[in-house]
Amino acid sequence: MSSKRFLTGITTSGTPHLGNYVGSIRPSVRHSLSANVESFYFLADYHALIKIDEPARIQRSTLEIAASWLAAGLDPERVIFYRQSDVPEIPELTWFLTCVTGKGILNRAHAYKASVDKNTNAGADPDSDVTAGLFMYPVLMGADILMFNAHKVPVGRDQIQHIEMARDMAHSFNHRYGEHFVPPEAEIEEDVATLPGLDGRKMSKSYDNTIPLFAPREQLKKLIASIVTDSRLPGEAKSTEGSALFQIYQAFATPEETAALRQAYADGIAWGDAKHLVFERIDREIAPMREAYLALLNDPAKIEAILLAGAAKARQIATPFMGRLRQAVGLRDLRAQVGSKVVKTKVAKPVFKQYRERDGKFYFKLLDVEGRLLLQSLGFDSPKEAGQSIGLLQTQGAQALAGLAEKLVPIAQSDTSAINAALQLMAHVD
Ligand code: TRP
Repeated sequence: MSSKRFLTGITTSGTPHLGNYVGSIRPSVRHSLSANVESFYFLADYHALIKIDEPARIQRSTLEIAASWLAAGLDPERVIFYRQSDVPEIPELTWFLTCVTGKGILNRAHAYKASVDKNTNAGADPDSDVTAGLFMYPVLMGADILMFNAHKVPVGRDQIQHIEMARDMAHSFNHRYGEHFVPPEAEIEEDVATLPGLDGRKMSKSYDNTIPLFAPREQLKKLIASIVTDSRLPGEAKSTEGSALFQIYQAFATPEETAALRQAYADGIAWGDAKHLVFERIDREIAPMREAYLALLNDPAKIEAILLAGAAKARQIATPFMGRLRQAVGLRDLRAQVGSKVVKTKVAKPVFKQYRERDGKFYFKLLDVEGRLLLQSLGFDSPKEAGQSIGLLQTQGAQALAGLAEKLVPIAQSDTSAINAALQLMAHVD
């Protein structure tokens, strides 16, 4: 299997809640643990500016969300974990995409349309209190995704439209400037893509109906006790249909546990008892992470260092890629004249070197622009075999690494992005 690139971000506009955990944090941490995926996780702090104008809250939220991800098991050595605003290529790409995105498409974006509809219904100017930031939200999100050519974006159902827009942007750009972007796909966790909140609507900061992921045990208990139910009495059969409590339970329980609660509903369990059960089940999963979370919150320097290291890894990919995109759209060094035979700038690029050793075998290595060794093969019996492996790397990029593992000197996971960046650079610079 070839490796897939997963990417997901969380807007740093609040305290992470159970809905974020179930819909985004938990599935993405799971993905990051599977073999053959290269994953990107980021704190969408530029997106937060669209919604929040309280600087302290943005900073706090960034800390809390980073700590939540780490506490939930994200391994920053294994994945690329960064803060959006540490990667200046992202806003630059946003502009490139802005210029290939139809305004009409953005007019149809759900979040923008909802604001316009609300204003219209209230008899106000349609764009009253709507910032251009809100309007542009999908383009910034498209840049997040396309910057790293992510194949799959695990998101809640409400974000599918944004992924479709990112696909559109990829196509429009590719159509004008050549194949630079992979159109991404949304990946939805079927049962639990969106979690209901305390009032039964989607759990969301904007509805103020959330359960903070790491609320202290007592608070968690109180909040779960406040989930809306109907007024059926103990002994009366209850319906699981439309029961927020049931859906929340389901997101944490095994199928057997869920079946047991379904039966208990039919048998007329008292709401108080059902809530207690749900509370204990959730706390069982959350409690160990809660401790790790609190320790991390007390060590912001550690999180800051992790994020900066992650941004450096992200930029190993983003910087050269952005360089190629600038080239593609025509933001170029003036000495490289269009159509001229005279000026042909020599751009340093990574190289493959093939050679024969004294053992009679054929080897290759990959060197980066500065001549540093990125990849070293083991011995092949023929130059043709060595060449074929190089060919795979050239066509498939770092995705080919897993398949070639037996032919290569083992590499650290953290080096794959550098290798990928080099391969991408070779594919596009000439
Ligand atoms: N819009 C997402 C949310 O609010 C956050 C986000 C920003 C995102 N950029 C992204 C998610 C890119 C996935 C991919 O939840």
